[in-house]
Amino acid sequence: MSIDPIDIGSFWLPKASSTTAHQVDWAFDVVLWMAVVFFVGIVGAIALFASQYRRRRKGEKTSTVDHNTTLEIVWTVIPLLLLGVLFLSGLRGYANVLVAPAESLEIKVTGAKWFWTFTYPNGYVVQNELVVPKDRPVKLLLSSQDVVHSFFVPEFRIKQDAVPGQYTTMWFNATEAKEIVVECAEYCGTSHSDMLAKIIVKPEAEFKDWLDSAANESAGKSPVEYGQILFTKKNCFTCHSTTGVRIVGPSVKGMFGRKEDLEGGAAVTVDENYIRESLLEPNAKVVKGYPAAMPTYKGTLKDKEIDALIAYLKSVK
Ligand code: CUA
Repeated sequence: MSIDPIDIGSFWLPKASSTTAHQVDWAFDVVLWMAVVFFVGIVGAIALFASQYRRRRKGEKTSTVDHNTTLEIVWTVIPLLLLGVLFLSGLRGYANVLVAPAESLEIKVTGAKWFWTFTYPNGYVVQNELVVPKDRPVKLLLSSQDVVHSFFVPEFRIKQDAVPGQYTTMWFNATEAKEIVVECAEYCGTSHSDMLAKIIVKPEAEFKDWLDSAANESAGKSPVEYGQILFTKKNCFTCHSTTGVRIVGPSVKGMFGRKEDLEGGAAVTVDENYIRESLLEPNAKVVKGYPAAMPTYKGTLKDKEIDALIAYLKSVK
């Protein structure tokens, strides 16, 4: 699926691709143009009066007017009415964006340094690629494993913090089958700017097929092949290279069987149990000289997946 290059939205904003995005844009436009009109009117009047009524001679009084009750009432009441209109229309849009329709498809979203994990109602777990149906409300239940992240979808005009130890929600109804960018909008450390994800909107029938086959993704693959897919899909590669290059964590090249010095003085030989422990309790034995930055995969990796990852890591020589 490719993104239409013409499809770039207005001068101010990206394309509006959800049912509520136009309400947000409407509020934005109203505020913007109101501000433009008042800015031009007020600054214009200031400039005009400054030139028209400037003091030409020392001691000259330029105007006899120092108070006008009618004028004061007019310029208080008009902005009050305008604010009332803005408040009421904004409140309606806000309430709409806040409360997800009851029939929404609910997907759990977990932020962690520095990727997003999505868990579907059927138990399927995937990183960084949120596949959703078109024309159907999707509710996201957000939380975080470490620090505050923020799930920002510019084309849907929605943004919500993902907070550790707490759930927040957001929802959308995508109107076009396409790929949409998700950004982390809360500074969360070294790779904050790389904490990107994708929303892939598919027609309902295609989405159903995808979800059915996704749950079965290891079929017909050897553990090493499946492990390699998981290494990419679970985002291991953002911190661990397979080439020997240091990124955030140690490279996995030739890792199996290697002896590593640990923070705190002990040493460990990398074997199946060490890999498993490091996936589930990453901070239990941290290799010396590296930050304890890895999030836990407890609850997001099944045993079958851990087996496959171990098989793959053994094969990276
Ligand atoms: Cu996560 Cu910024």
